[in-house]
Amino acid sequence: TKRQRPVIAIDGPAGAGKSTLAAHLARRFGFLNLETGAMYRALAYKAIQSDLDFDEEAPLLALSGHTKIELEPQREGNRVLLDGFDVSARIRDADVTAAASRISVHPRLRAWMVAQQRQLGVMGGVVMEGRDIGTAVFPDAEVKIFLDADPEVRGSRRYRQSAPAAQQKVTEEAVLAELKARDARDRNRAESPLRPAEDAIVLDSTAMTLEEVLARSEEIVLQHLPAQ
Ligand code: DC
Repeated sequence: TKRQRPVIAIDGPAGAGKSTLAAHLARRFGFLNLETGAMYRALAYKAIQSDLDFDEEAPLLALSGHTKIELEPQREGNRVLLDGFDVSARIRDADVTAAASRISVHPRLRAWMVAQQRQLGVMGGVVMEGRDIGTAVFPDAEVKIFLDADPEVRGSRRYRQSAPAAQQKVTEEAVLAELKARDARDRNRAESPLRPAEDAIVLDSTAMTLEEVLARSEEIVLQHLPAQ
């Protein structure tokens, strides 16, 4: 490859802790962190506003043709601009989360996303996080970590991390059911389904603390980075 600095790919199912890990590794190694899920979320939000059917690819693809999505890496994640407007908070809402999961099955829409993500990482020096970074976006990434955890654990972590106001509106069971539905869609779609790349290091965080996940991941990165 012609890039001078490495790409670190972080993949895994929803609620495994990928964003926290990616932000940590980016700070630790002085790289930019890029949350590709935010791009699917931003387009999903525009699809909601445009009253589109999430199951129909052609109109979504047409929409993408006049859409600009920008990720601005920050210390604790990404600021997300949709056609110049900051949608960082709005795209975390439940309706956008569900829509993003549904639009992300469409192959040509994924190709549009992947092309942009490759551009963002072309120089290297990035920690890119998503579902298909190690398998489709950067199959030649220098480091690939697949962060997994049992669904029950991911669901309960998600629930406990949500705001008290949100906890009054949904039960932990509902959070788990939603997470399992997203998992199933991610793992069963025809185009680049969620799975570890053959050369990915699978880290199962079910019985690990956050500190243990961060420390183990740092070790993995140090072992795989070419000596600087
Ligand atoms: O990581 P996230 O929850 O923000 O991702 C939102 C949705 O986008 C998720 O349901 C799956 C999809 N996604 C994807 O298909 N490929 C990626 N690289 C990132 C996200």
